[in-house]
Amino acid sequence: MSSDRVTVRAPATVANLGSGFDVFGIALHDPFDLIEAKRTSERGVRVEKVEGMGAHAVTLEHTKNTAAVAAAKVLEMGKADFGLTLHIKKGIRPCSGMGSSGAGAAGGAFAANLFLEKPLPMDQLLFAAAKGEEASSGSFHADNCGPSLYGGFTIIRSYDPLEIVRVNPPKNLGIVAALPGFAVPTREARKVLPKHVDLKDFIFQIGQASSFVAGMANNDIGLVARSVKDRIIEPARTPLIPHLQEAEEAAKRAGAMASFLGGSGPCICSFYDLDKVDGSVVGTAVQNLYENRGIECLCWVTTWGEGCRKESK
Ligand code: HSE
Repeated sequence: MSSDRVTVRAPATVANLGSGFDVFGIALHDPFDLIEAKRTSERGVRVEKVEGMGAHAVTLEHTKNTAAVAAAKVLEMGKADFGLTLHIKKGIRPCSGMGSSGAGAAGGAFAANLFLEKPLPMDQLLFAAAKGEEASSGSFHADNCGPSLYGGFTIIRSYDPLEIVRVNPPKNLGIVAALPGFAVPTREARKVLPKHVDLKDFIFQIGQASSFVAGMANNDIGLVARSVKDRIIEPARTPLIPHLQEAEEAAKRAGAMASFLGGSGPCICSFYDLDKVDGSVVGTAVQNLYENRGIECLCWVTTWGEGCRKESK
C-alpha cells in the first residue's frame, strides 16, 4: 500500500434477529464507526484516541480494545514487521446491542489487512475480528463482527471451524433501530440466559430460524417478519430492558412488520417494508414511548448495508 494511513468505515449490526442467537446478524447502512490506522515502524498496535458517541466507555488499553486486538491479530497472522496506531471515531454507542464492539473488531482487522503485502483472506479476518470481540465481551462470538465485515445478512454456520455464510436480504427490507438511553453490557445480558432449553422451544426455534433464512434468501419479507419469534433468549432478557414489550407493540402499531430485541439490547429493532411504510413513523412511535416515560431514545431509520470498506478521501 502506498499511503501510510487509511480510514475504514465499519457498520453497525444487529445480531440474533429474534430466532438466531449467536448465529444471525445483519449489517446496517447507518450508523458506523470510522477507524483511522497509521503505520508505525515500531511493532504493536496502540490506540491513540477514541472520540464520538460513548467514547468515554471505550478503553484505550491495547489488550482490551476490540479494534486493537483484532488489528494486532491480523498483523501477527500476516507476519508484519511494523505496527499501527489507531484513531477511532465512534458512531455506534457501546453497550447498545448495535454491534459497537463488533464494528471496532471488524474495522480494526480490515484496516490492518490493508497494510499487509499479502492481505489475508476474509475468513482469517473474521477469526481475527472474533478474537477482538472476545477481548471485550468475554465470549468468542462473531454474529456482530461477521456482518460488519461481510455486509448483508450473515449466518455463522459453525464456530469450530469458524465459517460464515452471507445472504443478500430483500431489497425492500427497511430497518428501524431505536436506542433507549440506558446501557446493557453484553457480559451481563449473557449471565441471565438459561443453561438448558426445553425440547419444544428448541423445535419451535429451529422452525423460526430456518424460515427466516428462507425468507431472506427468497426475497420474502413477509416470511422474514413472521420468523423472528424467540422463546428462549429474549424472554430471559426482557427484565433487563424496561418497556421492551410496549416498545415492540408501539412499533408494530406504527407499521412495523416485526419488532424484537436487537442483539443483547437495549436496541429495539423493527423491520418494515420500504415500499409501503414510512419508517420514521415507526421510529417516532418507539421514541415517544420511551420519552413519555422519561427515557431519551435515539433512532436510526435505515436499511441493510455493505460491510467494512476503505473511505475514499
Ligand atoms: N449474540 C450476542 C448476544 C450478541 O446476544 O449475547 C451481542 O450483541
